Parts: sequence; C-alpha cells; structure tokens
Amino acid sequence: MTWDTIILGAGAAGMMCATQTGGRTLVLDHAKAPGEKIRISGGGRCNFTNMYAGPENFLSGNPHFCKSALSRYTQWDFINMVAAHGIHYHEKTLGQLFCDTSAKDIVAMLRAEMAKAGADLWLETTIAAVSHDGTTFSVDVERNGNRQRLTCANLVLATGGKSIPKMGATGLAYDIARQFGLRITDTRAGLVPFTFSDQRFKDISGVAHPVRATSGGTTFDEAMLFTHRGLSGPAMLQISSFWHEGEDISINLFPDSDPFEELRTRRQAQGRRNLTTELATLLPARLVEHLSKTIDLTGNLADQSDTALRALCDGLQNWHLRPSGTEGYRTAEITLGGIDTDCLSSKTMEAKTVPGLYVIGEAADVTGWLGGFNFQWAWSSGWAAGQAI
Ligand code: FDA
Repeated sequence: MTWDTIILGAGAAGMMCATQTGGRTLVLDHAKAPGEKIRISGGGRCNFTNMYAGPENFLSGNPHFCKSALSRYTQWDFINMVAAHGIHYHEKTLGQLFCDTSAKDIVAMLRAEMAKAGADLWLETTIAAVSHDGTTFSVDVERNGNRQRLTCANLVLATGGKSIPKMGATGLAYDIARQFGLRITDTRAGLVPFTFSDQRFKDISGVAHPVRATSGGTTFDEAMLFTHRGLSGPAMLQISSFWHEGEDISINLFPDSDPFEELRTRRQAQGRRNLTTELATLLPARLVEHLSKTIDLTGNLADQSDTALRALCDGLQNWHLRPSGTEGYRTAEITLGGIDTDCLSSKTMEAKTVPGLYVIGEAADVTGWLGGFNFQWAWSSGWAAGQAI
C-alpha cells in the first residue's frame, strides 16, 4: 500500500503532524490507544502548554534550533485550537495551562482534527523494518497477524524518547535515525526524582517545602518533596535536567526570607525560647527534627551567638546534597538528548541528508522544562513538519 506520508508514533507530536500533512497520511503505533502520555499527563488533566513558553525554556545541543518552530506555531495557536473545541482550561501556576475536566479531551481533539484532515490511524501495529531506495521509504509492519510492506514519500519519526518503557517507549526513532546516518547525542533521564542509596529522607517521606534549588548553574523556586528513596517535587524534577552524576545540588530552604534576621530578632524579644521550636515555626517540624540528627540545634535562642546563628542559617540556605542517582527512565517525564538537531532543518524538521525523512517531538534533542513546555515542543515541531510536507 502506498501513502504520501507515514508517521511513526501516534503521540503528541505525531498526531499534531497528521492534522497538517494533507495528502494520504497514515499514523502507525504499537499501542492500543493514541496519545497515552497525554492521557496520563498532569495527573490526568494534561498541562498542555505554558503561556510563557519561549526558547529559553528548552535544553538542546543547539539552543537556537527550537526558535523557528516555536515562533511559527505558538502556545496561543494551540490554546485557540483547544478553545475552538470547547475544552475548558485554567492556569494552575507559572503560566501552566491544564484541562478543567480531563486530558482525554486533548486526545479526542487531536483525533477529531486528524479525521478532519483525512489521516488514517493504525494501532497495535509493529514496525518491523524501514528502508529507503533513494526516493521511496518502505515500512514493513505486522498487524492482525499479517506482515505487509507499506511505501511512502515522506517518513516522520515521532516515536518519542525512552522515558517510561512500561507505557510503550522504545528507542525506535534513534535506531532508524542511526540507520540513515543521523547522529544521536547522549541521552539520559530528565524531569526525574533524585535517589539517595542510604534512603536518608525515609523518616520525612511526604514532607514538602518551597525551596530555591540549584544545579549546573540553573535555579528554580518551587516545591521540594522528600520521598522514601530521595527527593522529588517540581523543584527537584526541574533541576534534575541540569544535573550530572557525581555533582552536588544546592537547596535554599528559605527562598523568600532571611532566617538569620528573623532568628536574631526573636532572640532579642524571646531569648528563652527553644531553637528547634522556633525553627519549627519557619520550616516543617518533621524536617527540623530530621535536621537535628546531623546539625546541633540544642539550646535556647539566647545561647546562640551571631556567628553560630549565621553558620546555621548559611547551612540551611546552601544545603549541599549529592544524590546517588535518579529514578531513571522508569519514572522520568522526558529524555534529555536525542537525534542531533545539527542533522535537521529547524524550519521543517527534515533530515538534511535524507530528503523526506522528518524528526519531531521528544525524539529530537530538544527538551523542555517542567510546566507544559514539552507538549508545546511536540505541537510546534509536529506542526512545522506537517506544514512542510
Ligand atoms: P510520545 O511519547 O507522546 O509518543 C510516542 C508514540 O510512539 C507513543 O504513542 C508510543 O506508543 C509510540 N511508539 C514508541 N515506540 C514505538 C515503536 N517501537 N513502534 C510503534 N510505536 C511506538 N509534558 C508536558 O508538556 N506537560 C505535562 O503535563 C507532561 N506530563 C507528563 C507526565 C508523564 C508521566 C510523562 C511520562 C511525560 C509528561 N510530559 C508532559 C512529557 C510529554 O508527555 C512528552 O514530552 C510528549 O509526550 C512527547 O511527545 P512525542 O509525540 O514526541 O512522544
């Protein structure tokens, strides 16, 4: 069977691309349903974009690569599509837009737009092999127990990255890219919780606190969550994308206040108060108890010299921790790295050396921060390739 365009992967990017391609378009996926990551994202409400999305919110070997697609299909274009489908949404925080009802509304919207564009969708289809004779691509698939060869002029790699293999993530896009001579940059798990082999935060698992977290020179002010295995919460997921094994992360437990001035003032007025009790009015009590196992917090406020208070506060505002690792692809929201953007046109997402081969979404070496940026990249890159085709 012959198609104008075959899109491998019916995720966010592949479905968006199929709404734009025109001609005879077929989308293939091995999953039972399209857009499974959309469905489970944002706690089932899908943080589908960010009002403030811009190139500065993305990591890539080439930070300029994402600019063209992001500026030609913006968050406002996607928001208009969402609104046109009558999907109600709200801003949760920091420009992050979520569905009011269900992430399934976004999947249904994309399916409706694909149907409008006349694109076909084959699910539960195994992609066995891909080849190219110089002008035409052949895709060997297995479906309903039958093996068949499909041919097309344009082949779009939209099978995403390696995060959450349980949900069907595979390295297929990388394998096909390699087969066609495209480079793959180093890949690792991003937007992922940190682990500590000694499980040192087990006793305060479940405690959350707003922090300023820094890693690799980048800082985020968001909530941190202590877990059985280590550290999670938006602040930790954000800096995990900037962290490399063996490095420390730095945590400021007082991002918006000056604990030294606060404790000094209290010392003057209420010197007989207990240091731990006072700290427990500024930090979660269970966290203070945990800290007291490694830091000397004994005595009253009056017992603390300026030097002692300063040392204590400096420690709490610049708490250095060295994670042993991360939870890895098992729970990571995203794969950092991927198909080298130097091999692709930033305008069309087409491979520079293989006319007709396109790479979109997470498979490419473009990774967004937490907060709706990764879906925006899927929409923008999918749209750019679809338009070019
Ligand atoms: P995506 O992974 O969506 O799609 C790839 C498709 O290819 C899948 O349908 C898969 O089944 C298919 N496929 C893979 N290998 C195949 C093979 N060998 N054969 C056939 N088909 C194959 N981002 C965001 O902006 N806001 C959010 O709220 C969230 N939340 C979130 C939660 C969780 C738990 C995760 C894991 C991720 C997020 N993300 C997110 C990230 C977001 O899901 C991600 O960036 C996009 O889904 C990437 O879109 P793609 O289309 O590139 O890949």
